[in-house]
Amino acid sequence: MARGRRRRPRNNSEEDMFGDYDNFYGNDSLIAHVADIEHKYLQDKNIHVKAAGEIVLGNLQSGVHQKEQDNFSASQNVVVLKEGACQMCDSDPADGNQELAESILDDLPSSQLLCFEKMDGLPSASRTSPISKGRDEHVNSFSDKIIDPLSFYAGAEHKNRPTDSSSHSTCVLFKSESLKDHLKSAMTGNARAQTLQVSKTKQLKEAVLSEEIFVARKAIESSSLDIGPFYGLPSKVKDLFRQLRGIETLYEWQHDCLMLESLQQRKNLIYSLPTGGGKTLVAEIIILQELLCRQKDVLMILPYVAIVQEKVRGLSSFGIELGFLVEEYAGSKGRFPPIKRRVKKSLYIATIEKGHALVNSLIETERIDDLGLVVVDELHMLGAGSRGAVLEITLAKILYTSKKTQIVGMSATLNNVGDLQKFLQAEYYTNNFRPVELKEYIKIQDTIYAVDSKTQNGFTFSHLLNFKYSSNLEKADPDHIIALVTEVIPKYSCLIFCPTKKNCENVVSMVSKYLKKEFRAHKEKEKQDLIKNLKSIGNGTLCPVLKQTIPFGIAYHHSGLTNDERKSIEEAYSAGVLCLLACTATLAAGVNLPARRVILRAPYVGNDFLKKNQYKQMTGRAGRAGIDSAGDSILIVQEKDKHLVQDLVHSPLENCYSNLLLELTKGIQSLLLSLVGLKIAVTHEEVDNFMGCTLLGVQQQLLSKEKSFSEIIKDGLENLIEKGLLKGRISEKDHNSKSTLTITPLGKATYKGSIDLAYCNILYRELKKGLEGLVLESNLHLLYLSTPYDMTSTCSPDWIIYLRQFNQLSAAEQKVADIVGVPESFITKMASGQAIRKNVDNAVVNRFYLTFVLYTLLKETNIWSVSGKFNLSRGYVQNLLNSAASFASCLLHFCEELEEFWVYKALLIELTKQLTYCVKTELIPLMEVAGVLEARAKQLYNAGYKTLAHLANANPETLVRMIEHLSRRQAKQIISSAKMLLSEKAEALQEEVEELLKVPMDIPGTH
Ligand SMILES: Nc1ncnc2c1ncn2[C@@H]1O[C@H](COP(=O)(O)OP(=O)(O)OP(=O)(O)O)[C@@H](O)[C@H]1O
Ligand SMILES: [Mg+2]
Repeated sequence: MARGRRRRPRNNSEEDMFGDYDNFYGNDSLIAHVADIEHKYLQDKNIHVKAAGEIVLGNLQSGVHQKEQDNFSASQNVVVLKEGACQMCDSDPADGNQELAESILDDLPSSQLLCFEKMDGLPSASRTSPISKGRDEHVNSFSDKIIDPLSFYAGAEHKNRPTDSSSHSTCVLFKSESLKDHLKSAMTGNARAQTLQVSKTKQLKEAVLSEEIFVARKAIESSSLDIGPFYGLPSKVKDLFRQLRGIETLYEWQHDCLMLESLQQRKNLIYSLPTGGGKTLVAEIIILQELLCRQKDVLMILPYVAIVQEKVRGLSSFGIELGFLVEEYAGSKGRFPPIKRRVKKSLYIATIEKGHALVNSLIETERIDDLGLVVVDELHMLGAGSRGAVLEITLAKILYTSKKTQIVGMSATLNNVGDLQKFLQAEYYTNNFRPVELKEYIKIQDTIYAVDSKTQNGFTFSHLLNFKYSSNLEKADPDHIIALVTEVIPKYSCLIFCPTKKNCENVVSMVSKYLKKEFRAHKEKEKQDLIKNLKSIGNGTLCPVLKQTIPFGIAYHHSGLTNDERKSIEEAYSAGVLCLLACTATLAAGVNLPARRVILRAPYVGNDFLKKNQYKQMTGRAGRAGIDSAGDSILIVQEKDKHLVQDLVHSPLENCYSNLLLELTKGIQSLLLSLVGLKIAVTHEEVDNFMGCTLLGVQQQLLSKEKSFSEIIKDGLENLIEKGLLKGRISEKDHNSKSTLTITPLGKATYKGSIDLAYCNILYRELKKGLEGLVLESNLHLLYLSTPYDMTSTCSPDWIIYLRQFNQLSAAEQKVADIVGVPESFITKMASGQAIRKNVDNAVVNRFYLTFVLYTLLKETNIWSVSGKFNLSRGYVQNLLNSAASFASCLLHFCEELEEFWVYKALLIELTKQLTYCVKTELIPLMEVAGVLEARAKQLYNAGYKTLAHLANANPETLVRMIEHLSRRQAKQIISSAKMLLSEKAEALQEEVEELLKVPMDIPGTH
């Protein structure tokens, strides 16, 4: 880490390794030292704690009216410093203070404007400053001044402001007072990164915005149906949707849904509409209402890391304009518990796993009520294996612990809504609206049928496919894919969903081979640019398939690509440079890439027959709102599968079932453990009560009759006691149902680290063994411990490569292999195909192979060369890296709970960082910005944008000019995300300073 310096954790549970990336935290010990001196000064002056708090408030309210009495003098307490700052805005008109005041107001968030108006004694009877309300009365006056440093330091960095003399005096004054303030001033100046000009219009706009927010809040408080200009929100929100999303008016259903009485009454809600129906917008408006009007934090749960990053980028501009924070919880990013903000509210955008960890941390710190709203996109994920189990656990915990938190879930593919409604105690809204009509077809041989579920057959004859194939072409393309795609491309776009990754590549290779030369001419330059871009992403290498297909405007898209490549391809497709993508089902899940035509290559996903949900998700991509008048989907079917397809057409969407039992260790056992750990339920009886409120509880009648629900819970608890994770007694029937269960340190570490219960004991043993002889000559040993267990089954070693890698290790590193249980003789024998007599744990051997991949990656920081070396797809290698980063952060939380493992803590913090970014250190600050991946970071760095502050202060036009393949929209998003991150970091530092300066209530002798 070149730039990041370590921030001292406030306590173990609040440890946040990613605070360490904070360029602006500066030297922690320095800040602490300054704070200490100031604190000491305060105490020397015998300031009475309580009185100080009162004075602060009093002064704020009376504001500048006290200026004559309150001349600054060294003997006065720091309250005066605050007033001093105010006075300087006011007391010397000759210094152009009017302008200073304006320039300050220019950059102020609306809440601060209100605060200033009060101080100026403006008539504001109907307004109250949200700040003064939310203020902690026991913060001493110095930190009170920090409450909104933006107001005092706005534009402190802007040298050309007409504020020289007054700001100079401010500086002189502050120099003697607070080095810390200077740090803050620099940071917040950067964070604001606003226009340099004084703008009255902007000031006015801010005032209007704050007025509207105030009115909206009042309207909601009085639960009146007479809501504000835009669904209770300021009209600025409407403008933003227009500017940033191109949305002029809401669809009728969106309006109806937002006007639902149940929503106004803050009841939980599930709503379901077909893909592309515009569900997100409704969720976003509800989120903004919660953040701005109800002043509560919001958690938004999305299924994948890439989608989380996309959302963070998309909503950062809203956050900056409307004054809330957007915080990313994905992969290894996220603070647990989140920092408690003083003024601004936070929108946490999280993956399912991080959302769960976040909720746990809020329950543990008794802050769950701060969460006003939880929004779950793709709610049908509840039925999706272990991730579904985690989502169910998260929602059940929220429902049980916070009656005030509203839950809103949405999906395109729900069937057994009744169960879900019962589980979430929610109302239901549904509508069949699709902005673009979808025509569904099935192709059997050269006949096209229209899907019609009303007929017995499931489909009716539509037309014959019109094409002329040579016998050669017929052989190469027996399914007539070329005929189907050339009906739409290159003018319109087309997606082909294929059952496997290999299939995607084959299809695009084949199509490109037989397409006419004219296809090359379409957007030729842009395609060359894309190739250049992909080459630079691959450090000079370009996938041969893409090299062949992109000139024709076609490409494949699946998990074998790196994130950078995938993103470039998606962007090129959205921009119309690519007109055909062959992809796997993953593209259907959440990525917003619609097409005029969607072709399903076969009714299979992998080896499994297509499910109705999957069919709906894929075909739903057809038709682009606002562009196409209609979209069509064509499912290619072989004669032999005809009857299965008929069933598919007639079948309803799949039901969503609880996965708590199917995923035993990640499901019910993990839930029971954390229930006790978080003290949500600590007796058998309480646990039973809780479990009745889960989706499993709702669906318990579906359980087999062998065991009752209650017996299953009892078995689960007993199992945890046997494993040494819980303590207590579970007895037959009622005897001990009220006796308390407690969690053991290992149990606590397991749930805090979100460790799969299947691995917690082995993990403990391996870490313990490591204590006896951790080899630290390189990071190999530590990497082995951080290699995710659940990935070992996804890869079988190539023994020749294994042996080659092994032989390159130093003697000390070879010892690591021996310690963890991978004997050299075993690898040698496997590589030479000899019989093995030794009893070796295959899981360990496989895991160590993955460790080799990670080890090489960290050394070479080049995914391409490493994937070549190990003969693995680059997407797989990247996925392994991301999983390892995530697991290392889990491991860290695990070790924090077990005193005996203290030594691992420092090592794991550093390792997690390396794994998270795995790039040259100088790129890390740029890659912290959501969605800036390695290739983009390199471009930015080379163009001179070297820090977060450079990005936050960048001009979008210049950025577009200097950076290749960057659209104006992307440039703006990057800048907004950087601004957001910077202001979030600055706020975090202010929180910390304030925490440090908070005068304890219980100082001996003060009462
Ligand atoms: N009122 C509107 N006017 C114009 N466009 C809209 C409107 N509402 C949403 N859209 C656009 O429609 C597209 C699809 O919307 P969205 O992603 O919310 O669909 P969805 O219902 O979430 O679908 P999926 O189930 O696929 O996730 C987006 O590009 C969005 O900007
Ligand atoms: Mg959606």
